[in-house]
Amino acid sequence: MMINNDTIVKDTDPSVRRKSVPVTLPLSEEDKTILKEMYQYVLDSTDEEKAKELNLRPAVGISAIQIGIPKQLTAVVVHEIDKNDQEVTYAYMLANPRITSRSVQKAYLENGEGCLSVPEEHEGYVVRNARVTVKGYDLLSDQEVTIRARGYFAIVLQHELDHFNGVLFYDHIDPANPKPEVPGALVI
Ligand code: CO
Repeated sequence: MMINNDTIVKDTDPSVRRKSVPVTLPLSEEDKTILKEMYQYVLDSTDEEKAKELNLRPAVGISAIQIGIPKQLTAVVVHEIDKNDQEVTYAYMLANPRITSRSVQKAYLENGEGCLSVPEEHEGYVVRNARVTVKGYDLLSDQEVTIRARGYFAIVLQHELDHFNGVLFYDHIDPANPKPEVPGALVI
C-alpha cells in the first residue's frame, strides 16, 4: 500500500472516526506489514528529500485507522532531549497498546498539536496527562513492552491511542476557551 498525503484518511471522511479493534497475537503477516509500512512512513516523512519526493507530511506517529484500517496498530518515532542533554529516540511499532496508568499532572504543547488526518490548523491547548504507562506488543523489539513515557513522548502516545477511539486532537479543545489555565501543567 502506498502511504502518502493523498492516501491518508482526512477528517472530512467519517471513517477516521471508526473505533479500532485489537489484533490477534502473534501478529499475522498482514498486520506486521501494516506496522512496518506505517513505521517506514514516519521515518521517511522526517527525511526532507524523501518527504518531498514521496509527498509525505512530517509526522512522529501514525495509526492504522489513518490508512483506512480499523485495527489497534500504531507506529511512533520520537526524538527528544533528555534531562542530561542527550538525544534519545523512542521508536515503536505497537499492537494493542493501552494506557495502564496516568499521572495527575497535566501537559500540553504550547503551539498545539497537529495530525496527518487534519489538514487545517486548530489553535488551542490539548490538555493531556504529563506521564502515562503504556503496555502492548512491540514488533520492533518483538516483545511485550511497558513504556513509561513523559512529556512530549507521552503526548504523542496519547494522541495516537485516541485514534483507536476515533478521537482527534481538536476534540479536546474547548472553542469557548481554547487556551485555558492549567495549574501545575507541564508546558512543552
Ligand atoms: Co493524528
